[in-house]
Amino acid sequence: MAGDSTAMSAAAIRGRELFMSTRAKCFDCHFSPDFTGDEFRNIGLYDGSAALNDAGRFAITGDSLDLGRFRVPGLRNVGATAPYMHNGMFRTLREVIDYYAQPHLSVINPINIDTLLQKPLDLSNAEKSDLETFLHALTDDRFRQP
Ligand code: HEC
Repeated sequence: MAGDSTAMSAAAIRGRELFMSTRAKCFDCHFSPDFTGDEFRNIGLYDGSAALNDAGRFAITGDSLDLGRFRVPGLRNVGATAPYMHNGMFRTLREVIDYYAQPHLSVINPINIDTLLQKPLDLSNAEKSDLETFLHALTDDRFRQP
């Protein structure tokens, strides 16, 4: 993010470009240097079923526009903080990326899902790997406990 072109591997740089692209759309929600704009957004993990019954921000505001919205988390050190999402439903970053690529395979009828995610992102396996490599590049090992 600071413009040092030697800081990351070629795969991580490809992943970063994809992350910022209008095709993968990650940066539309995970923007700013810490990769959260601190907004509340809905990525489709609320469908009213027993398994996905947390209405998120709606429980605080009572505003139906907030149904299924959660705070966009920052992504610094995300490779060290599994499991993922408010309910911990994904064990790995690859599972997260597979979800974003085809949300409807996990949740058939999400309530109030963001317009950005209404169509599958259509990412190849190589692109998914690049994205995953980029997310792991956000880990600062200096803060890792042995
Ligand atoms: C519409 C906005 C939006 C878009 C687009 C989006 N995200 Fe997210 N992201 C979120 C929200 C909101 C959460 C938290 C959801 C929850 O807690 O249930 C999240 C969670 C995550 C997490 C889990 C973080 C954690 O600590 O649990 C990762 C990793 C992630 N997103 C990566 C990505 C990547 C990679 C892309 C692009 C393929 C992307 N996001 C696109 C809004 C978005």
